[in-house]
Amino acid sequence: MFKNKKVLIVVSGSVSAYKSASLVRLLIKQGASTRVVMTKSAEEFIPSKTLSILSRYEVLTDLFSSYDREVVHIEWANWADYIFVVPATANIIGKIANGIADDAATATIMASKADKIIAPAMNDAMLNNAAVKRNLDIIKNDGWLIIDPEYGFLAEGYEANGRLQEPEKIIAEASIRLQAKLGKLKGKHIVITAGGTVEALDPVRYLTNRSSGKMGYALARAAVEAGCHVTLITTVDKEDIYGVTKIFVKSTQEMLDQSMIAFKHADIFIAAAAVSDFRPMTYVEHKIKKQDNYPLQLTLIQNPDILKTIGSIKNKNQIVVGFAAETQNIVSYGQNKLNQKNADMIIANDVSNSEIGFSSDDNSVTIISQKYSPKVVTKQSKIKIARIIIDSISEIVNTN
Ligand SMILES: Cc1cc2nc3c(=O)[nH]c(=O)nc-3n(C[C@H](O)[C@H](O)[C@H](O)COP(=O)(O)O)c2cc1C
Repeated sequence: MFKNKKVLIVVSGSVSAYKSASLVRLLIKQGASTRVVMTKSAEEFIPSKTLSILSRYEVLTDLFSSYDREVVHIEWANWADYIFVVPATANIIGKIANGIADDAATATIMASKADKIIAPAMNDAMLNNAAVKRNLDIIKNDGWLIIDPEYGFLAEGYEANGRLQEPEKIIAEASIRLQAKLGKLKGKHIVITAGGTVEALDPVRYLTNRSSGKMGYALARAAVEAGCHVTLITTVDKEDIYGVTKIFVKSTQEMLDQSMIAFKHADIFIAAAAVSDFRPMTYVEHKIKKQDNYPLQLTLIQNPDILKTIGSIKNKNQIVVGFAAETQNIVSYGQNKLNQKNADMIIANDVSNSEIGFSSDDNSVTIISQKYSPKVVTKQSKIKIARIIIDSISEIVNTN
C-alpha cells in the first residue's frame, strides 16, 4: 500500500511517542519515503535525532526553521501522499478540529491535501472528555481516518482504554481502510462462510473435514479492501480483520440458520465453507461406550444444502457464489453446480492436488460464472486468489 509513497509522520507529545520510531521503520520497510514533523512536546519524549536517522531526513520541529528554500511547511505539505499523526495528543486533536495552525506540525497538516490518518493516545479520562470526543467527531466528519486506541496497560499503571495501537496494527488498519475508500464494491454488504462444519456424534466426538478456513478469511480481507462490510460466518477463529464481523458456528444447520439471517440484508453471499454433506442421524447424550467385538454402526442423514437454499431465495439484485471442491472434470462439474444451485458464480478447485486447497497457503481455481467464460487462476497465495475472485464478483455486480 505504501510502496513508493511519500509518508509524513507527525509526532505529538504523548508518552507513547517512542512507538513512532517503529512506525517509521515499518513504512520504510514497505518501500515508503518518510519525513517526520514533531511538536515541541514530542521532543520531550523522543529525540528528533532518532527519528531523523530512521526516516533518513531532517526532522521538522520549528515553523520558522532555517531552511533557506521555500516556505517549508507548505513544501512538506505538498510533498506528502499520506499524513500519519501518531501518536495524537488530546491537544493536537483539538487544534486540528478547530483549524489552529500555530506550529510546524499543525501548519503542515492544515496545508496538506494528503489522505490523513490519526491514532489518538491518551489517558482514559482524557479520552472520555466531552471536548475530545467532540473534536474526534469533527475530524472524522472532515474525512480523517481515525485508528481508535486500544484497551491496555497505560503509563499511569493501570489497564484502561487509551493505549496507542501497535504500529503494525496502525499500518494494517490504515492500508485496508484506505483501499476500501476506492474499492469497487464500496458500501456493499457481503456474507462469507468459512471453515469446516462440525457434526457432533456424542459429547466428545464429531465428524468434520480438513478445511482450515484460510480461503474464507482471505476472501473476507479482500472484500474489506474492496469496500464491503463483511459478515463472516465461521467455524474457526483465525484473526481479527478490520471491518469484519465474525459469527461463530459449529454445525451445518447452525451455519445455514445464520446465513439465512445475514443474507436478508446482504448484496453478495459467498459459500466458502466446507460443509459436511452428512450428519449423524441421532446425537447421543452420553459418551458412546465400546462393546466387546461389536462394530459401531453410524447412520448418517443428509444435511441441508446451504448454497442451494440461499440460491433459491435470492432476489435479482443479490449475487450468490459457491465453491466446488472436485477431484476430476473440474469445469463440467462446476458448470452443473452453477445451474443446480441457482448461483451466479462457482469457484472450482482441484482438491486432488495436495500442493493447493485445504490447509495450504496457496490455491489455484477456475472461476465459472453465468455471464463470462471460465477463467483459470493459476497457483498463487490465497489472498491473491481472493482478490481476483472479489474483482470478478465486482464485474458482475457493476454490470447487473
Ligand atoms: C509524562 C507526560 C505524558 C503525557 N502523555 C500524554 C498522552 O499520552 N496523551 C495526551 O494527549 N497528552 C499527554 N500529555 C500531555 C501533553 O504532552 C500536553 O497536552 C502537550 O501540550 C501536548 O502538546 P502537543 O499536542 O503539541 O504535542 C503528557 C504529558 C506528560 C507530562
